[in-house]
Amino acid sequence: MAAVLKLLVLNGPNLQLLGRRSPEIYGHATLGEVEENLARLARELGVEVECRQSNHEGDLVDWVGSAAGRFDGIVLNAAAYTHTSIALRDAVAGAGVPTVEVHISNVAAREEFRQRSLTAAVCLGQITGFGVAGYGMALRALVERLRAGAVESAEGRDKR
Ligand code: DQA
Repeated sequence: MAAVLKLLVLNGPNLQLLGRRSPEIYGHATLGEVEENLARLARELGVEVECRQSNHEGDLVDWVGSAAGRFDGIVLNAAAYTHTSIALRDAVAGAGVPTVEVHISNVAAREEFRQRSLTAAVCLGQITGFGVAGYGMALRALVERLRAGAVESAEGRDKR
């Protein structure tokens, strides 16, 4: 039997303030609630999920960089680092772990500096503008792709 898929959910700077920070843009759910919902969805899908948040670029780079072989996929809301971090882009590209980029708000409809993502091109795809529901959509999309064999799981990569 194939190993249970393990997914890593990473949230970047200021997302610990979810629920209090600009609720008209990011909604009222807290990060704790988002993570609880993801844990529930993961149980439903029969996968494992681990959620982490950091305000520090280096933490995110380290977590992405050490995900290879430990996680089958990553859901990444790098928040402001999306628009600035070449280091994070290089980490995603280098780790080779299928990653889906998430934004709670519709970044395409916001300030010009939010309309450029340095990480999107090295991700499988981007889910933006669906509020915190986007995290669940990303998790489902990753699991579907991994199960269809459309992208390689950590188990597959280990066998190479
Ligand atoms: C965000 C969008 C970013 O531009 C912003 O810096 C964030 C959150 C989003 O989820 O909509 O912190 O990634």
